[in-house]
Amino acid sequence: MAKTTAKSAPAAPKAPAAKKTAPASDTVADNGSANGRSGPSVQPILNQQFNAPAPLQKYGTVSQRLPIGLDANTRQESVEMLNQMLADTCTIRDMYKKHHWQVVGPTFYQLHLLYDKHYEEQDALIDMIAERIQILGGVAVAMAADIAEVTSIPRPPRDREEAPVQVSRLLEAHQIILKNCHDFAKRADDSGDDGTNDLIVSNVMRTNEMQVWFVSEHVVDTPLARAE
Ligand SMILES: [Fe+2]
Repeated sequence: MAKTTAKSAPAAPKAPAAKKTAPASDTVADNGSANGRSGPSVQPILNQQFNAPAPLQKYGTVSQRLPIGLDANTRQESVEMLNQMLADTCTIRDMYKKHHWQVVGPTFYQLHLLYDKHYEEQDALIDMIAERIQILGGVAVAMAADIAEVTSIPRPPRDREEAPVQVSRLLEAHQIILKNCHDFAKRADDSGDDGTNDLIVSNVMRTNEMQVWFVSEHVVDTPLARAE
């Protein structure tokens, strides 16, 4: 349907705002019948985390809820591998954003854009890995503090570093992820978890290999104007 344009009718003059005569009990003090109303309340029930029962599922456990044709041991092994891959992927994603912000020098513009592109690609991988973990019946690691404990990628300093140092850190991180990709893909194949094998080979491995290529070329010392 076409939108009504401003030309269709002159704006009506604004009616004077009605004087607000709030009742004495304007604030809803509880979840019950404020202002004498009965029936369902629109008041949110807050702070339920403080008296929550046991969690629905503990981290590290794997449920067999979804009928996907994989046995418990296969799921457990895949979930453990994928949580490692998820933590490492979150870490390299965040390294790309750190370096996107902090890069300096003559290659600033190229690297600034490239780092952000790689950040977005790693972010997409994170969602695929985490959702695969949930499909397998596991619990995906999610919060930064937990990721810091699980990842095997060395923690970079908070400081701003030269572009070649940034690139070297990224290449080290890619190498860690890619070695795991080869190991985990083989193990998923051996256990019959084809979906996990496919995710690792087709998405995680291919993306990381491509990014290694693009980033590596920034630390090749070639002449800019005259061949030597
Ligand atoms: Fe940005």
